[in-house]
Formats: sequence, structure tokens, C-alpha cells
Amino acid sequence: MKKLFGVIGDPIAHSMSPLMHNDLFQHYKIDADYLPFHIKEAQLTDAIKGLKALGAGGFNITIPHKIAVMPLLDKIDPLAEAIGAVNTVVNQDGLLIGYNTDGIGYVRGLTEKIPDLSDRSVLMIGAGGAARALFFSLAKVGVKKLDIYNRTIAKAHDLISECPYAVDSNAIGKEQAEASLADYDVIIQTTSIGMAPHLDELPLSLENLRENAFVSDIIYNPLETKLLKEAKKRQARVQNGLDMFVFQGALAFELWTGIFPDPKRMKHTVERQLGGKQC
Ligand code: ATR
Repeated sequence: MKKLFGVIGDPIAHSMSPLMHNDLFQHYKIDADYLPFHIKEAQLTDAIKGLKALGAGGFNITIPHKIAVMPLLDKIDPLAEAIGAVNTVVNQDGLLIGYNTDGIGYVRGLTEKIPDLSDRSVLMIGAGGAARALFFSLAKVGVKKLDIYNRTIAKAHDLISECPYAVDSNAIGKEQAEASLADYDVIIQTTSIGMAPHLDELPLSLENLRENAFVSDIIYNPLETKLLKEAKKRQARVQNGLDMFVFQGALAFELWTGIFPDPKRMKHTVERQLGGKQC
């Protein structure tokens, strides 16, 4: 019998997850459909109950429901619990289990470019929900240093102190981040700066960026943010948010089917839809 999968969010019309997962189901000859569900906050409880009653195999959760969905599930994976957000749900014999594949998905994408992170110093920009998933996952796999620059420094301190995995980390201000930028091998941008309506903004000056630094932005629309353009001008290697999107989806697909899908195929599907090439 055909299995049901989907993604719940508000808005949801522009989600590329249905395209990506339906292509994979077809490619791996799995009899399943993945649908977008536009669910408002007030309907979230009913929607989750409905998907459970219908026997959906699993689903993704996106903005703004990643936190609100947690008490509606039967069990939460420890990493998702620590992060405080769920983006993937698996229906295991009638029990809904919540996972977070965003952070580990990001790390998988990053290790495609930098296989050994253990001796790298990292500066993360931002301390919101996305930063939290990435920070905890990077701390879990282990990096040499993992500092945070955030506009509101108190939020960076909170994030660091709430991380369940030991890592050498400091919260720093903008001035210090800009002055000591050359100390970092990897810069990770997690805020909305660079996305409309902040297309022409930079979260910090790259004047002191190392020539061989790696600059990663979790934004993929646009494919190349102003930060990545500036980084390229300074001979840095860059990565946009497509890899994170693809790998979080690949890990979700693996949780649902037991198959780790071909990330190149997934990236190609998304790039075709976006009408551009990854930078
Ligand atoms: P998400 O879940 O996408 O991470 P979020 O939790 O609202 O969204 O976090 C947004 C992040 O972007 C925060 O780090 C925020 O900084 P503050 O903690 O100071 O609010 C950052 N951010 C958003 N807009 C910003 C701007 N215009 N300038 C600097 N930082 C900004």
C-alpha cells in the first residue's frame, strides 16, 4: 500500500522538500508520496493527530512549528531534545518519534568539504534556532574551537552554556570578531542577513579574513549571499546552504526508509528547481 509522507509548515508553498523526496521515492522504487501541508498554528495538534491516525510513515516539520510540535510527539531523540526543536518525525509502529537532522545534516555537508574538523577553529555568526542546532552538532562531533558572535551577546552566552557537549567556546562581540577573524579556519553564517530584505548587508567585515579560510552560509536563496561574494573576492573557499538542506533531507529519508540517498542527485534536483548552480 502507498505510504504517506509530507512536510508541515506555514508558509509551505515554496518548500522544495516535496520535489526532492518524491524524486527519491521514484528513484529507489518506493511506493510513497510526499505532500506539502499548509498548517496554521491553531491546527497543529489536529494535523499531527490526523497524520498519526492516517498511518503516515513520517513527515518533516518546518517554520514555525519545529518547537511547538515537540509535546505532540510520543518520543524525542536526545539530540533533538537538547536542541529543543524537531524537523523530522518517524512513525514507528504507531508511535511518533521526533528527530533533528538540521545540525547533523549541516555537519555532513561541511565534512564533504573539510573531512577532519577536529583541528579547526570555527566562528559561528548568530545564536538563534538554526545556530543552536549547528552549534550542538558541531560540539558533538568535535572541533578545536567554536566561538559565537551574535548581535545580542547574552543569547550567545546562553547557547554556549546550554550545550550538552564539551567544546572550547567563547561568546564575542562584533569588534572582537572582526579584529580576530584571521584566527578562524571556518566561518559559519546562520542569521537572516544576506536574505531578502537584507540582500545587501554583511553580518561583519571580512577585512581580516584568512586567504585560505572556509566561509559557509546556511542561506541558499539567494545561492550566493553578499558574504560569500566578499569571501570569494578574498580567495576564501565558500559553501552555501544547499548542502545543509540536501543532507538534512538525506538523513530524514534514511530514518524513514533505511536508505541513505545519493546527495548529488538531491542537489541536482534542487538546483534545477532554483534555476542556478551552487557557488
Ligand atoms: P532561526 O531559527 O532562523 O535561527 P531566530 O531564532 O529568530 O531564527 O534567530 C535569528 C538570528 O539572526 C539571531 O542570531 C539574530 O540575532 P539576535 O539574537 O541579536 O536577534 C540574528 N539576526 C536576525 N536579524 C539580524 C540583523 N538584522 N542583524 C544582526 N543579527 C540578526
